[in-house]
Amino acid sequence: ENVTEEPTERTLVLVKPDGVRRGLSGEILRRIEAKGYVLRAVQLLDATTDVLHRHYAEHEGKPFFEPLVEFMMSGPVLAAVVEGEDVIKGFRSLAGATNPTEAAPGTIRGDLGRDWGLKVQQNLVHGSDSPESAAREIGLWFPGLA
Ligand code: PPS
Repeated sequence: ENVTEEPTERTLVLVKPDGVRRGLSGEILRRIEAKGYVLRAVQLLDATTDVLHRHYAEHEGKPFFEPLVEFMMSGPVLAAVVEGEDVIKGFRSLAGATNPTEAAPGTIRGDLGRDWGLKVQQNLVHGSDSPESAAREIGLWFPGLA
């Protein structure tokens, strides 16, 4: 083993309640694995208000904050720790732009996301946006994970 090698990167992926409800969890995990990323932990859970307030802390006070938390509690969420080289950036490429109408075809949100006629943006997935966020979010959703 080359001990000087950078440890493989991890990111926290959420399939939001719209994705789970529409039966797209498998399709989303399939795309992640097909890209060559590895699933290190996966759980389906009902997110608590406490975890969501901490997860989205940087958005507290924004107009979409409370509707977003409410949407995230509207059904089960699939949380996953995904591992691979540059996976933080790579998963965000797979996911596509935040707004499903603007997301490029070929991306999860571009191919599968719908945002018309909805009170709250329902864009299927979340992925950590930096190594610091990834570490914080993995600790939040998978407190037992080494
Ligand atoms: S910001 O203000 O630019 O940092 O916000 P942005 O990166 O676009 O979005 C941050 C997360 O908030 C979600 N979001 C919304 N959810 C519901 N309704 C509305 N109107 C809305 N606007 C933003 C967005 O999907 C991001 O969620 P995550 O889970 O991080 O992808």
